[in-house]
Amino acid sequence: MTERIVIVGGGQAAVSASMRLRAGGFTGTVDILSEEPVLPYQRPPLSKAYLKGELDEDRMYLRPDSLYREQGITVHLETQALMIDRVKRTVETEKKSKFPYDRLILATGATPRPLPDEIGGGLENVHTLRTLADADLLRDKVRPGQRLLVVGGGYIGLEMAAVAATLRLEVTLVEVQERILNRVAAPETADWMRALHLDHGVDLREGVGLRRLVSDGKQAVLAALSDDSAVGVDLVVVGIGVRANDGLARAAGLTVQNGIVTDQYCRTFDPDIYAIGDCAVFPYRGEPTRLESVQNACDAGDYVADHILGISTGPFVPEPWFWSDQFDISLRIAGLNRGYDRVLTRPGEREGGLSVWYFGKDRLLAVDSLNDPKSYMAGKRWLSAGLTPRQDALVDPNMPLKSVPTEAAFSTVSKATTT
Ligand code: APR
Repeated sequence: MTERIVIVGGGQAAVSASMRLRAGGFTGTVDILSEEPVLPYQRPPLSKAYLKGELDEDRMYLRPDSLYREQGITVHLETQALMIDRVKRTVETEKKSKFPYDRLILATGATPRPLPDEIGGGLENVHTLRTLADADLLRDKVRPGQRLLVVGGGYIGLEMAAVAATLRLEVTLVEVQERILNRVAAPETADWMRALHLDHGVDLREGVGLRRLVSDGKQAVLAALSDDSAVGVDLVVVGIGVRANDGLARAAGLTVQNGIVTDQYCRTFDPDIYAIGDCAVFPYRGEPTRLESVQNACDAGDYVADHILGISTGPFVPEPWFWSDQFDISLRIAGLNRGYDRVLTRPGEREGGLSVWYFGKDRLLAVDSLNDPKSYMAGKRWLSAGLTPRQDALVDPNMPLKSVPTEAAFSTVSKATTT
């Protein structure tokens, strides 16, 4: 009998799971243990509208305090879970309280990889960007004319650079790999994004790492780069990836490998403990997969609640999508491009828009839509229906997307159909 559900973590995954438990009729206790000092909030705007000052704090919260109370969901703030006792089925917190559980959901998220202290990571003006507190600190510092160094050319680094350039800071971005977005996107997408940033005056340097920051004792004042150049800095933002918060699970003897390992039901090998969101690794298309996205956190939260309540008995099948807004463009990504062996591009309907299509063994895996919402919609529709567009038709700019013939991507006998 499940009467007590404890959720560790106070992000999107935790909120989705807790609300869905109530929506599904769960009448037992739901306790969310969050180490943060504020109620769960949306993270994506932190590196976009919130940082720019276009969104107030009260609009950042996922749900108002009153709703948690109405729903009988207790959110314990500034409450860090320290230990899971799997035998007694309790979670111990730093405040020395114990939370007994029948089911435990780990939704602990991820933490930015810090810049090592030896090269200046601990200096006062060196920041990462993941929490509301991080964004609040940065909001006070992004002033016109300040010289910002962004370390890392992933989405966090690029979004930071875009906001700062819009606010008229002098921005230099260094990416240690040969190109930006090396981990997550094809060269075609990177080329488009690079052009966008260069157009807006970002000094974008690829194949260049940070050797060390030179300080005045407290603050970084100069960045020595791997190509022997140096730039003066007032502010440094580090976006060099994240690590899953899996320490609590590891200490409890659960399997951890770049995240908390779960089965196709989002369950660890302890059947009473689930893991969801950025901290979790689950099987997807035959490979252990960790997805860093809000959509995955929401979907997995909903799924786990349904699974606990017996509403859903099938496996968790994610339909990944992601987005990023930079300057006045919107990038939408449907699918996961892992394992792609061919990339096709297609001009967007709007001037300057583009879509980048990823195929693996001739099967559609993903699409990056750069200011081209129709390609995102088409790609999403095809992917969720298990369809693959015909490649010759896809690259024909005169062929409207809705007329592109498709075939079933997963059947062994290919059968032509038209959407
Ligand atoms: N110097 C410069 N660049 C570096 C260094 C370094 N020392 N180390 C790593 N990088 C580069 C990587 O090559 C990579 O391109 O930093 C980039 C980090 O990109 P991601 O791993 O995608 O991580 P990040 O941009 O920090 O985003 C973290 O937050 O919002 C989410 O979607 C985002 O899930 C992602 C997460």
